[in-house]
Amino acid sequence: MTQAETYNYKVVRQFAIMTIVWAIVGMAVGVYIAAELAWPALNFDLPWLTYSRLRPLHTNAVIFAFGGSALFATSYYVVQRTCHVRLYAERLASFTFWGWQAVIVLAAITLPLGITTTKEYAELEWPIDILITVVWLSYAVVFFGTLAKRRIRHIFVANWFFSAFILTVALLHVVNSAAVPVGFWKSYSLYAGVQDAMVQWWYGHNAVGFFLTAGFLGIMYYFVPKQANRPIYSYRLSIVHFWALVFTYIWAGPHHLHYTALPDWAQSLGMVMSLILLAPSWGGMINGIMTLSGAWEKLRTDPVLRFLIVSISFYGMSTFEGPMMSIKTVNALSHYTDWTIGHVHSGALGWVALISLGAMYYLIPRLFGRELYSLKLVEVHFWVATVGIVLYITAMWVSGVMQGLMWRAVNQDGTLTYSFVESVQAMHPFYVIRFLGGLAFLAGTVVMAYNLWKTVAGAKVVEAPIPVPVH
Ligand code: HEM
Ligand code: HEM
Repeated sequence: MTQAETYNYKVVRQFAIMTIVWAIVGMAVGVYIAAELAWPALNFDLPWLTYSRLRPLHTNAVIFAFGGSALFATSYYVVQRTCHVRLYAERLASFTFWGWQAVIVLAAITLPLGITTTKEYAELEWPIDILITVVWLSYAVVFFGTLAKRRIRHIFVANWFFSAFILTVALLHVVNSAAVPVGFWKSYSLYAGVQDAMVQWWYGHNAVGFFLTAGFLGIMYYFVPKQANRPIYSYRLSIVHFWALVFTYIWAGPHHLHYTALPDWAQSLGMVMSLILLAPSWGGMINGIMTLSGAWEKLRTDPVLRFLIVSISFYGMSTFEGPMMSIKTVNALSHYTDWTIGHVHSGALGWVALISLGAMYYLIPRLFGRELYSLKLVEVHFWVATVGIVLYITAMWVSGVMQGLMWRAVNQDGTLTYSFVESVQAMHPFYVIRFLGGLAFLAGTVVMAYNLWKTVAGAKVVEAPIPVPVH
């Protein structure tokens, strides 16, 4: 029996291809809004090209379309390979593909038209929210159904992380999107005032913790050992990492609401839990990186492995920076500034994008039974992307700290030293650098798409079986 008959790779292939497509679309919109911030005339006075409408299009496209497709592809692949069974309810799995793509297309139409709930990362209006719920529950049925019929008694740790991601995102989405519709494309949140803000940032922070982190840790725990051909450094640490992470993340949301009407004790609780979060995050990072121990030389020769390992380093960096930014006195400087944007993209580009793209380099040739077209082009992609990230995040750090300091500077007589416009002028060069960094990252992804296109279309067929999963 061939590999293709043993496992359902069709849906994995579909999601894998769309991962690359949505990466390019989402990042292209990111580059465009970065250009708009540097040269505002680029909105051409067209309502649907304005920054305020394209920004949520960017975040939805990169997080849910690109990141979401990468998570669907990898979780469906990993759960089959580590449980030694085909997917449960395969027609439902196919529905999750088409349903998720429909959600993305609806987002791409409604957001530029200005149809939005205005809740960050939950902007889509209620009919689309209902579709998301149906797709997500179907995803849960397929994933947990596959786990239930597994032939291997043990549940591999990557599946634990995927499970937490699927369950928590379902809960977050349903609670935060609860709304009263007043028309087909308009609704009001069920919550009001500070409760609304707290529910929103409980959602927002855990979207980071479970969508942008737990799911991608699932990817790390499977693909790093596979690509390095080494067992996980410590299986015991991975279990401690899992429980400590899921327990702590859920409390940290209030760090998004420092110095607001949220009760002070809740803000302090959010800060303390965020500081504690450093420990499980770094436990996970160490476990990922140390998986390479004894095989460090592979980093010199294997650019795909480099994607995976550098992504874990960025994970470590952003999970150090996050707890620091959650300290109230630090947040007093960083909040509202580009520092937050620098932090976001060291996590988003450095961690989420690099690990997803690394996993796609592993996955796509295997799914199509082909040999990767060019390792040289992977190398080119790696360096262009890394330089792009460094330009992006350093520009935002400098700009962010500068903004924070300029806004708080006061003269001896108590008047402000700088007008707001002066701070905007000072930011301009950094916005140009960020645009160039983003453009480089996008260019790297286009090189990857070309490389994978040549791989799939190419004649270099490999019959070698896909290696057995690491347990
Ligand atoms: C231990 C882990 C982390 C902690 C404690 C943390 C903490 C923080 C803090 C304090 C802020 C600023 C809130 C504000 O001033 O408004 C923030 C913003 C943000 N972080 Fe993190 N962070 C962590 C890891 C990450 C990672 C790994 C990612 C991405 C993959 C990420 C994505 C974001 C995003 C998207 C925002 C912006 C939210 C918004 O205002 O729209 N964080 N984080
Ligand atoms: C070519 C790559 C990218 C470029 C040029 C880019 C550019 C931008 C820009 C200009 C903003 C608005 C910043 C502001 O409001 O001041 C933004 C926001 C954001 N981007 Fe990206 N981006 C890129 C890739 C990504 C990726 C891959 C992800 C996620 C996986 C991501 C997640 C986000 C998030 C969560 C925000 C909102 C941050 C917040 O509200 O604090 N971006 N991006």
